Amino acid sequence: MSFDRSIKIAPSILSADFANFGAECRAIEAQGADWVHVDVMDGHFVPNITFGPATCAAIRPHIKGVMDVHLMIAPVDPYIEAFAKAGADIITAHVEAGPHIHRTMQAIRGAGAKAGVALNPATPAAAVEYLLDMVDLVCVMTVNPGFGGQKFIHSQVEKVRQLRAMIGDRPIHIEIDGGVDPVTAPLVAAAGADVLVAGSAVFRGGSVSDPAPYGANIRAIRDAAKA
Ligand code: DX5
Ligand code: ZN
Repeated sequence: MSFDRSIKIAPSILSADFANFGAECRAIEAQGADWVHVDVMDGHFVPNITFGPATCAAIRPHIKGVMDVHLMIAPVDPYIEAFAKAGADIITAHVEAGPHIHRTMQAIRGAGAKAGVALNPATPAAAVEYLLDMVDLVCVMTVNPGFGGQKFIHSQVEKVRQLRAMIGDRPIHIEIDGGVDPVTAPLVAAAGADVLVAGSAVFRGGSVSDPAPYGANIRAIRDAAKA
């Protein structure tokens, strides 16, 4: 089977009800989410704290599809095994999180997960050039990591284009994280992205007791990206 470069929408549960993650994950999948994006923050690599591997393990049984874990933590390596055991399908670490990102990618695959590498907005595409034969996903941050609801940084569209050319026909997803909505989705899709993370643009207007807006929001992003 050829590599799946179709558009995938990955709602970020950073914008969900933190007291109700299980039901939120079930609701977004029922409403058409392709992946579930899980943002782990440590208050050190980024100026915000979310949760760790125990919460990921608790969420896991509520997700049928791909659990996409985005680690905004430093150091990363001591925690890889725990996130893999928690059931992460993909573990993404930041190239800025330490001096040994190559080793980190090896460790993620060694733990049985797919390996993702994320780039902050100021980090050039070339930073991942020597990792392309050992990663499954490159995540382009289109906001500075730490918070949902920030404004999309347009300069990153060119970075996506560069990465798409560098990747060629390697089986690597390009994921966009931050400020994705029906206006910005077509820009990054045209530049070569296939996984669109969206927090506020998916969860706005809905809730577990009224999840239909999640579906409408997901469809609006997907339709805009495909147009
Ligand atoms: C930001 C997180 C994102 C965030 C995106 O640090 O990595 O996943 O939830 O949120 P929105 O879509 O609201 O920009
Ligand atoms: Zn994220």
